Amino acid sequence: MADGTLKYYVGASRSGKGLAVKNDLVKGNYDAVLVWDAKPEYHKSGTGSQVWSRGYPQSLSRQGLISAVKRLDSCAFFGRKTDFDYFCHAAFVFAEIAKIRNKKACIVFEELASVVSAGKAPEAFGDLVRMGLCTGCDIKIVSQRVAESDKTSISNAGIVHICRTQNPDDARYLSRMTGVPKEDIAGLLADPETGIFQFLAVDMRTNIVQKGHAKIKGKSVLFNYLPIKV
Ligand SMILES: Nc1ncnc2c1ncn2[C@@H]1O[C@H](COP(=O)(O)OP(=O)(O)OP(=O)(O)O)[C@@H](O)[C@H]1O
Ligand SMILES: [Mg+2]
Repeated sequence: MADGTLKYYVGASRSGKGLAVKNDLVKGNYDAVLVWDAKPEYHKSGTGSQVWSRGYPQSLSRQGLISAVKRLDSCAFFGRKTDFDYFCHAAFVFAEIAKIRNKKACIVFEELASVVSAGKAPEAFGDLVRMGLCTGCDIKIVSQRVAESDKTSISNAGIVHICRTQNPDDARYLSRMTGVPKEDIAGLLADPETGIFQFLAVDMRTNIVQKGHAKIKGKSVLFNYLPIKV
């Protein structure tokens, strides 16, 4: 199985990160998905986003998490911060089991800044983002501000999905990191009135940048991608 991809979603609150992750989960057609469900919002239909139609079974306990991992069942785990290290160990096992069974799996971390701090990633999470991708499992990480999250995961990102940022420092930081002009990043809009949430998706491996937007229309969310030159 090919290596997995780490996709990092960044942007201000209500900028469309969740919409993008859920769209990617539907498009990814995964056999199993494990979510660090910070809010929680991945556990049943209709919450979080209308694009989201297949909420995962929820676990509130470590026991439930382990049962799901052993069976390679999808699971949205809503734990406390003190569960994070445990979750990351379990997530690595989940990725290994998926590899052995030749299944397409994905691990999602929502609101990363709530559980890691700037600097090196905490132990189990660091191991997962450094070594987990070679199991073939994809990893999706969501953070409002890269500057508030660890450096390890963003450094391992294959794709950075940038939504509207609020703090000018964030646009500068993301521009330095991706090579996309900071004006392009600072110009991204998220408008709940029109239902349009713009983004830039930067492939760090090929330097291909796609500009696009999510548009909420009735009960669905449509995604448009246009390749642009950097
Ligand atoms: N179920 C829904 N119905 C209608 N609009 C929605 C729905 N879910 C999300 N939206 C719209 O999409 C916008 C972006 O939501 P999203 O969950 O993607 O934000 P986010 O970037 O993940 O923010 P946060 O960091 O606060 O979680 C919201 O402001 C809201 O206007
Ligand atoms: Mg969100």
